[in-house]
Amino acid sequence: MIGRNLKVLLSEATIQNRVRALGLEIAAGYPGDDPLYLVCVLKGSCVFLADLARAIPRPVRIDFVSASSYGSETVSSGEVTLTKDVASDVGGADVLIVEDIVDTGATLAFLRDHLARKQPRSLRVVSLLDKPERRSQEVTIDYAGFTVPDEFVVGYGLDFDEAYRNLRDVCVLES
Ligand code: XMP
Ligand code: MG
Repeated sequence: MIGRNLKVLLSEATIQNRVRALGLEIAAGYPGDDPLYLVCVLKGSCVFLADLARAIPRPVRIDFVSASSYGSETVSSGEVTLTKDVASDVGGADVLIVEDIVDTGATLAFLRDHLARKQPRSLRVVSLLDKPERRSQEVTIDYAGFTVPDEFVVGYGLDFDEAYRNLRDVCVLES
């Protein structure tokens, strides 16, 4: 594909099985019927959010945030800014940040601080992928789908230059 090779790292079936299990684990972690606010980090997490929300057998609400970090396309820098905030009032609510991947941890650390200022009742994180090798900020991932090696991955919402988000598998992008 335009001089680039894709190697399947996590197949569609593997992802779907894990997302179903995560949904049940998350539901078990929130007893009661108060809505759980799933805060999806745009854009990479949108595919994961769609599957995860339907795998959680309890009331949920959906909202979105967007953050951008400056740096080259495959290496994120530490500087993060908020480009879109949640529309809901999440004060006093259970909030679960839905991330596609945690790499250095800068984005998550920033978003966690930002949402914590809104004083939710609880604030946890689910990330489909955890890439711990380049972690520079200490962040807690309460629910993690898969640990991945330090390689650039695309598919299932993740992009390279906005391409490949619609792949059903998570693939390693080899140059
Ligand atoms: P940090 O370093 O802040 O990075 O934890 C989080 C954001 O960096 C992007 N990122 C990736 N995007 N494939 C991608 O498509 C990757 O392998 C990858 N690694 C980091 C992503 O936007 C994520 O939210
Ligand atoms: Mg992201």
